[in-house]
Amino acid sequence: MTKLSLRRTRLNHHTRELTRETHIQPQQLIQPLFVVDGIDEREPVPGIDMLFRDTQQSLLQQIEADRAAGINKFLLFSVPAEKSTATFNVSFTVAQIEAIRQQFGADIWLAVDVCLCSHTMHGHCGVLNSAGNYLRNDATVSELANIAGLYAEAGADCIAPSDMMDGRVAAIRATLDELGCEQTTIMSYSAKFHSHFYGPFRLAADSAPATQNQLQDRASYQIDPARPTDALASSQRDAREGADILMVKPGLPYLDVLTNLTGQIPLPWAVYQTSGEQAAIDTLARHDLIQRDGAQHETWLAFKRAGATMIISYAARRANQILRTV
Ligand code: PBG
Ligand code: ZN
Repeated sequence: MTKLSLRRTRLNHHTRELTRETHIQPQQLIQPLFVVDGIDEREPVPGIDMLFRDTQQSLLQQIEADRAAGINKFLLFSVPAEKSTATFNVSFTVAQIEAIRQQFGADIWLAVDVCLCSHTMHGHCGVLNSAGNYLRNDATVSELANIAGLYAEAGADCIAPSDMMDGRVAAIRATLDELGCEQTTIMSYSAKFHSHFYGPFRLAADSAPATQNQLQDRASYQIDPARPTDALASSQRDAREGADILMVKPGLPYLDVLTNLTGQIPLPWAVYQTSGEQAAIDTLARHDLIQRDGAQHETWLAFKRAGATMIISYAARRANQILRTV
């Protein structure tokens, strides 16, 4: 006599389908976009398939193509041509938001990243003190709040602060409300770790900390990977300050954090599958060491199991194709 127990429901695709608990829906994927001032032609981002640093024109075409592929939610990173240290000109980004809004209206949902690292000469996410060894908190926060207001007025649906200064969510919420942008949501990078998985992004956004800095890295403002309780405190704080959506970033190396935080704080949770994570998958696939679509899908399932509702993924634009093949 052959004994089957748990294998019986794994045997054919009907029972496998019936018993699934987790599903990937393209409506819950967010595609990051990069738009770069001062380039004539769009450029591929190293290591990541089908990801580009777009010009204003190619950006609009890319969004059109993504919509045709069934993706309508985006997170915009905009890279200015000129760097500065104290006052920041965001007119390029404002123009991109306006152009997107004009072309696509309410057909798409547009979140815009708010940070200073693409703007500063030194590549840090805020304003440095004159000694060059400390990122000034409140000076940075007031710049960010100001910029967030301009993005909201230009038509952003959502403001996504990624700087990790203290008090920025409250300051941004206050500015948005004062401007009459009370409908604009805030998605806070509330549990953003000091990670090595941001490499390709920093090339795409031209935002790596400069090597001649005294302050060499972002350890004095991003969360220590060995300290999950700081991620909890940071997320609770951002929830209190008025964030509508919280986030864990990176994704796969922090699934434990995602599981714990989504279980503890009853707000919508995003997870950010970062550029380094994506490049790892795509590089394995390019070497024929992994089946690209299946591996991508498997990582998305992990995020859903861990409690994220929405996933920020560089492969979002391939989702419908992926879902057809897995
Ligand atoms: C910058 C920022 C980073 C990412 C989003 N916003 C990187 C960093 O902190 O240097 C990471 C995105 C990715 O790697 O995909 N504030
Ligand atoms: Zn930054």
